[in-house]
Amino acid sequence: MSIITISGANGHLGRLVVQQLLQKGVKPANLRVSVRDVSKAADLRAKGIDVRHGDFDDFTSIRDAFAGSDSVLIISTDKVGSRIEQHLHAVQAAKAAGVKHLVYTSLVKAVINQQTGAEAPLAEEHRATEKAIFESGIMYTILRNSFYAEILIGPAVQALASGVYMSSIGNTPLGCAARVDYAEAAALVLTQPGHGNKVYELTTPKAWTIPELVQAVRNVSGKPLNYRQVSDADIISALRAGGASELESQMAVGMNQTIRDGMVSLTAPDLEKILGHPVTSLEEQVGSIMKTA
Ligand SMILES: NC(=O)c1ccc[n+]([C@@H]2O[C@H](COP(=O)([O-])OP(=O)(O)OC[C@H]3O[C@@H](n4cnc5c(N)ncnc54)[C@H](OP(=O)(O)O)[C@@H]3O)[C@@H](O)[C@H]2O)c1
Repeated sequence: MSIITISGANGHLGRLVVQQLLQKGVKPANLRVSVRDVSKAADLRAKGIDVRHGDFDDFTSIRDAFAGSDSVLIISTDKVGSRIEQHLHAVQAAKAAGVKHLVYTSLVKAVINQQTGAEAPLAEEHRATEKAIFESGIMYTILRNSFYAEILIGPAVQALASGVYMSSIGNTPLGCAARVDYAEAAALVLTQPGHGNKVYELTTPKAWTIPELVQAVRNVSGKPLNYRQVSDADIISALRAGGASELESQMAVGMNQTIRDGMVSLTAPDLEKILGHPVTSLEEQVGSIMKTA
């Protein structure tokens, strides 16, 4: 019996991947999740999925969680700064456990700034993980995800409350896709043949922009939304006035700078090719976010 193991299955992406695998007909008996807190995955256990404790800071726990798995999806952790050590533990655990196919959620090729040639701030940890995977000798699939479009769409939908959306991103082309599309792509590469030893750039096939997003929010909501292109300093002032800390405000504009540098401007056909259908449109994403807001 073939076993697929998903790490980080209590996180947003991990949950969606498990959901996609079940929807695609994978039997719960063929699924395992590796999570830090097994009590948070009680619903998955109730479905018949094997829930194991696995912490990337504890090599033995993940080696045991991965043991007997045919395929493992390593979802990059959110502990920026500690991820090289954590991810290398996971790769070594997969090797020790005899895993045959290792899938990893990396960062879109924006590892290199499209304009200046500089490396993206988050790139180093992903690059080091990819290198360890290539050197492990295990068959791999690297899913280089662009940013989650939700990160940009959520605030635009929230801005309907005030009727004004401010952004310092301007007209930078964006290749960010919906998290659910990255999740479905992961489920497909884990269950279909032909994805061995491939590196995919997962982005929308066509770039979109913030003004187009604002128009999508107006179209779907039927409400007015005024768009103001502003400076990073204006964003910091607005966030600080809304109660955000200095650090949170600086991080928000730091992300905008990264985006303006072209780090998520890459577009490629890979995601739609894997999905076999169009990526989730801006309008569809706005509609889903409005339903849950
Ligand atoms: N492409 C993007 O725009 C974007 C944006 C944000 C993040 N990301 C990356 O994509 C990943 C998944 O996104 P998400 O939305 O699912 O994030 P999330 O909901 O914050 O989930 C983060 C996951 O990291 C796991 N994790 C943290 N420390 C760990 C450890 N020591 N050992 C094992 N697992 C650990 C967490 O496991 P537990 O469930 O056990 O806590 C959790 O499942 C993030 O972790 C981050 O690397 C990408």
